[in-house]
Order: sequence, then C-alpha cells, then structure tokens
Amino acid sequence: MILPGLIDAHVHLRAPGGEHKEDFRSGTRAALAGGFTTVLAMPNTRPPLVSVDAFRIAQKLANSQSLCDVFLYAGASADHIDELPRLANRAVALKIYMDDTYGPLKVRGLGTLERIFTSWPENKLICLHAEEESVAVGVALAAVTRKNVHFCHISRREEIEMIAFAKSEGLPVTCEVTPHHLYLTYEDGQRLGPYGDMRPRLQTQDDVDALWEHINTTIDIISSDHAPHTREEKGPWPHFNEQTLWDNLEYEQYNITASTAFSYDRFWRPVAEDVKQSEPPEYTLHRSTPPGVPGLESTLPLMLTAAAQKRLTYERLVELLCANPRRIFNLPEQHDTWVEVDEKLSYTFPLHPLQTKCGWSPFEGMRLIGAVQSVTLRGRKVVKDGLVLEQPESDIN
Ligand code: NCD
Ligand code: ZN
Ligand code: ZN
Ligand code: ZN
Repeated sequence: MILPGLIDAHVHLRAPGGEHKEDFRSGTRAALAGGFTTVLAMPNTRPPLVSVDAFRIAQKLANSQSLCDVFLYAGASADHIDELPRLANRAVALKIYMDDTYGPLKVRGLGTLERIFTSWPENKLICLHAEEESVAVGVALAAVTRKNVHFCHISRREEIEMIAFAKSEGLPVTCEVTPHHLYLTYEDGQRLGPYGDMRPRLQTQDDVDALWEHINTTIDIISSDHAPHTREEKGPWPHFNEQTLWDNLEYEQYNITASTAFSYDRFWRPVAEDVKQSEPPEYTLHRSTPPGVPGLESTLPLMLTAAAQKRLTYERLVELLCANPRRIFNLPEQHDTWVEVDEKLSYTFPLHPLQTKCGWSPFEGMRLIGAVQSVTLRGRKVVKDGLVLEQPESDIN
C-alpha cells in the first residue's frame, strides 16, 4: 500500500543541549524509518527556544543535520514575551506548557497567559500541553481570544469530551492523541516502570476507550510525542518475562539504584521539585527519572495494526497522520514523496534495529501488523527494505 509522506506534529529531537538522547540526524533517521518525512520539533531544549537567538542556533543545527523536513516550535516563557512577534516569523507554532513536564517551560498565571496569547499573531497556531483543569483554561482562552488553540497529547475521557463540546460550540480548537495513550493503560505503566512513564501519564481503560470512541470525530491528529531519554537516565529495564510481555502479568517490583537513577541538574530541578509535591504516592517510584518515551518508529506500525483490526480505516489513518496536520499547521506539500508499507506483515516489534539514539521502545515485544518498506522523499529513495539508506537513490523514472 502507498501512503503519502507522513507528518509527526510533536517530537522532541533534543538539540541543542540534549544530544546524548537524540539529535537532528538520529531523530530524522528514526522519523524516516517510521514513515515520517516531516516532523515538528518541540522547544524544551537547552537552551529552550524562547528567544530569537536560541531559535537561530537550533534552526542552524536542524538545517545542517536533518534527513527530512523539520519545523521548529517557539516556546512561551514569562520572561521573553517581547520576543514572541519576532519568533512568530520563524516558528511553525507556539508551544505553551501549562502543567509540569520535562523541562523548565511552565507558564503560570492568567495575566501571563493573556499577554502571551495577545502577543502571538492570529495566523499561527498556539499549542498547549494542558491536562485536566488546564484544558478548560485553554478552551476558555480560545473562546475569549478567538485564536486557534491546539491541545497536545489528550489522554483522559473528560478532556476529549470537553474538546468535543468546545468544537460543537464552534470554538477554534483542535487536538492530538498519541499511540501510547491509545494502546497502554496505567497497568502497563506499572509493568514498564520508568519506561512507561510520560506526561500525561498513562490512564485507565475507560480513558483509552474514550479516545477510541473519538478516533473518527474529535481527534484531529495522531502524533508520537517522541520523547527519548537514555536507558541510563531511565534506570534498569524492568524484569518481566519477555515471552508473556503483552499478557496480563503480575506487577513485579523492581528497584532503581542510586547510581543509575537520573539526577536532575540545576536547570531542571525546579520542575522536578514541583512534580514531587503533586504526585500521587504510587508514582514516587519513578519520580527521579525523566518522563517521556520514544515513538517515531512505533507510531505508524501501531496505527497500521489498528487499521488491520478495523478500528479505523486506512483513509482515516492518512487524515490523522498527514492531511490534518498539514492543514492545521499550514505546512507545504512535499512533491514526489511517498511511503510504501506492507500492511499485512505480522511481526514482533521492532522489525529492524531502532534508529532513535535512546535505543528502546515501550512497545518492544508487541505483535504488530504492518511495517514500512520504503520511503521516497522528493524523488530520492531514503528507506529501502525498511532500512534508512546512507546514500539516497533516485526513485524517479
Ligand atoms: C516530554 C519530554 O521529555 O520532553 N516528556 C513527556 O513525558 N511527554 C515533554 C512533554 O511533551 O510534555
Ligand atoms: Zn507535553
Ligand atoms: Zn512532548
Ligand atoms: Zn515529548
């Protein structure tokens, strides 16, 4: 089956400052291996992309190292609101973090939010990391300012239902959901330990069911939230029986030793301290490890599996992974670009060694149906037999 070049609207490629986790080269290799020819990279880097100077540095790295098209988000920060109009000329969209997650970019206070919203131009999207009550804040801001608001990685029933309601009222809101929130529950999170820990956290089966109920309606985009962290930072891989990995296993307690536990440096500590205080007790186990899981290479296989199981059509899959992100973010067409998949192939993930620098996936060992065979980007074959080519080949006759 031939698909268009896919778009991942939410990835963390970690450069500058986090190149031990990922960089533009390794991250875009993972993108191509996963069938994505365009990715939109998040601004929670070191330094974060909240100023024109920082943005320029990241853009230069992206231009010189990327193997597919990369667009960068600008980040919102209370101290740099004056830079937003100039950042808007360069960035694909603005990202505002309204809850605790990895990185220092959390915006507090209605006054600050209002100033950020009014400093950002009408014609570019504002994206929110918003969970629970802050989704309501985002909906209200969309209602009051009439600016387009996009909600990242929606994970709970109440959230998706609130966004459905906002849409039915004609508010300019859109949303995205990740494959991990469609496939995994809180119980998987317990089994996977730090390797199943991300923000928003994995939720209940009822929340997962709610997301699938909205797959043909409220959900606009599937994005990976590819958020690689190294094994060293995540701690020991949980001990579970690989063979029965995806059967209901009893939770095995495992320990994170002091030497392998990630220790936040000064840059990240303020957020870590916040998280510690707001966390329910069952999560104290992995509060010292950074949240986030990779997803560029598992997203398309998981969605192809869902299509093979008739949970959505292949046409809808293409809308969620290409047509909708292109329209919502106003991205240019890529000519002579397509992805060839074997939508019938059944295998144990991963089919090929992972290209992401972190080298692991929470979906390792899962039986999936459908894999990338080749990718052609602007007439050049960049993936062949599932493997990223060192030397792209011409693919135009
Ligand atoms: C992301 C990261 O590691 O940058 N982590 C995560 O758990 N999703 C940050 C984010 O997307 O909130
Ligand atoms: Zn987020
Ligand atoms: Zn993210
Ligand atoms: Zn992320």
